Amino acid sequence: MKVPQHIAVIMDGNGRWATSRGLSRSAGHKEGTANLERLLDHLLLRRIPVVSLYAFSTENWRRPRTEIHAIFSLVEEFITTHLNKMVGEGVRMVVSGDLSRIPKRSRELLLDAIEKTRKGIRLTANFCLNYGSRSELLRAAQEYALWYSSHKTQRPPTEKQFQKFFWQPNLPDIDMLVRTAGELRLSNFMLWQAAYAELYFTEKTWPEFGAEDLDEAIREFHRRKRKFGGL
Ligand code: FPP
Repeated sequence: MKVPQHIAVIMDGNGRWATSRGLSRSAGHKEGTANLERLLDHLLLRRIPVVSLYAFSTENWRRPRTEIHAIFSLVEEFITTHLNKMVGEGVRMVVSGDLSRIPKRSRELLLDAIEKTRKGIRLTANFCLNYGSRSELLRAAQEYALWYSSHKTQRPPTEKQFQKFFWQPNLPDIDMLVRTAGELRLSNFMLWQAAYAELYFTEKTWPEFGAEDLDEAIREFHRRKRKFGGL
């Protein structure tokens, strides 16, 4: 049976995982990052070709500076320790979101990792950082308007043409969107790309969401009947 071609994950509950154990929220993000490494291994094993990971939203800037700093330090640590492994395993790293506002070192490491992993063909890992779906759509509309005014076309764009202005225009639509920690929302994540996604919610927090949980989500995906508006 065909596995989902694009899984999106809202990695929620790092804070709750930590505070329920008397740990700092940053310790929760650290454990969440360790789990992300395990998840990537399992996605490779299951031959899932694309994953999008909601790591930092445009709204997350409202968090305390120390927590924001902790998250970007983890991004940096993740890249420095895993870049060679990603290259070796055929993982291609791409990013969605406006990198101009994120810490300089994170940005430089990310751009270097994007370049060094660009030939990876087994798994595309789309790291969504300073990402918000509404701002992506607004930006696409603005860029499209600029393009439109400089081209002598009268035709309104097709969906495909409009998508060209997204952060990652060439990824397939999301087949399954997973959100952990019992929250039943999309929270401004890939609203266009998830238009026909199967939604999968679990009570488990992100650090607890293991390989067997991903397998269960994939099994549930296979049980769903996808209709795309038809009968
Ligand atoms: C949501 O949990 C999690 C985040 C906002 C950050 C997720 C970040 C990582 C897993 C680390 C990123 C690392 C890399 C390499 C991309 P929460 O803090 O909202 O949890 P809570 O709802 O229980 O407070």
